[in-house]
Amino acid sequence: MKPFRYRLRTRSPRETVALGERLAAQLEPDRVLALYGDLAAGKTTLSKGICSYLNADQPATSPTFTLINEYRGDLPVFHFDCYRIKHPDEILLLGFEEYLEARGIVLIEWPERIAQHLPADSIDIFMRVVNEHTRDIEILSPVELELL
Ligand SMILES: Nc1ncnc2c1ncn2[C@@H]1O[C@H](COP(=O)(O)OP(=O)(O)OP(=O)(O)O)[C@@H](O)[C@H]1O
Ligand SMILES: [Mg+2]
Repeated sequence: MKPFRYRLRTRSPRETVALGERLAAQLEPDRVLALYGDLAAGKTTLSKGICSYLNADQPATSPTFTLINEYRGDLPVFHFDCYRIKHPDEILLLGFEEYLEARGIVLIEWPERIAQHLPADSIDIFMRVVNEHTRDIEILSPVELELL
């Protein structure tokens, strides 16, 4: 189901933003990106690059307190942060299933909190802090990507 695997390393926030821009250039409507990684791993930073490439009306900010931010751009971007979700079904009350079919790009931080509701064809991105400026990023994708 996820035949394509990529391993990358970014050495600054700017490089992570640039990776988001390259990824965004290849996304089709209704694609879900599950962004895994601890606090400050760079999930929102990658989201900023995706929003910037799609000419979103605002730069991505952390939706931690609102659970979802919606941006208008060349494609709509629906940016979820599930950090505060206590039960996976809470996401359904926010209309999660409708967002999956709204012809936008769906970004999900802390996707492990809603594991049973993630679509099988999500692009899974695992981000890990190496040191202050360096992040290791592994991407598992059902579609081939050009990331260099
Ligand atoms: N290579 C890098 N890529 C991304 N961010 C980096 C990098 N190096 C340093 N940083 C810093 O790490 C922090 C990443 O914050 P960000 O909000 O993107 O994390 P997050 O994964 O969304 O965390 P949270 O779970 O709290 O939402 C920022 O302060 C950023 O400047
Ligand atoms: Mg974040």
